Amino acid sequence: MKFFVDTADIAAIKELNDLGMVDGVTTNPSLIHKSGRAIAEVTAEICALIAGPVSAEVVAEKAEDMIAEGRHLAKIADNVCVKVPLTWDGLKACRVLTDEGRQVNVTLCFSAAQALLAAKAGATFISPFIGRLDDIHLDGMDLISDIREIYDNYGFETEILAASIRTVNHIVDAARIGADVITAPPSIIKTMITHPLTEKGLAQFDADWKQSGQKIL
Ligand code: E4P
Repeated sequence: MKFFVDTADIAAIKELNDLGMVDGVTTNPSLIHKSGRAIAEVTAEICALIAGPVSAEVVAEKAEDMIAEGRHLAKIADNVCVKVPLTWDGLKACRVLTDEGRQVNVTLCFSAAQALLAAKAGATFISPFIGRLDDIHLDGMDLISDIREIYDNYGFETEILAASIRTVNHIVDAARIGADVITAPPSIIKTMITHPLTEKGLAQFDADWKQSGQKIL
């Protein structure tokens, strides 16, 4: 499973990348706004740091404008993956940009039917939003499962990028179902290491070792 980080925070990306944990990055207009930086500048910096795909999202509504924005964003670096919304215009832009050889992430996916359309439009990635479905009392994980089944039935190569991850369990469940990629905020990825029995066990080993009076070096 590939790990993408869902942030435009350079320091946070760098910290996880130094551990070899980052296979790609996703951003969106809200995350760019939060960074307080210009999209071209921050995207270029992330692309220089990360070898894998870096999603940069278009904001236009009409296909031709999305295509123009996508081409512009793709000029920032070879590893820019153009992110388009799951609308008919977005899918039209997806088809054109994909045919030009660019990577495309189709975002804001909330149904298996939408995911099927994105695969037919040649998307590199489909981004089902788990957390936002959970927010309205639907099961985001059912969606991942449905998309996995459909894509496997027909051999679609579009990768399932489980997005809007809010908990460690979201990551584990998406991994069990077979999502190809998760994108999560750095804080959630860092929380994956936490287990009270690890902390308790380490404290016990430390106390016993001190009592033994031994040294390794
Ligand atoms: C994915 O590409 C999106 O940027 C992101 O996962 C959305 O997450 P949110 O629902 O927590 O905003």
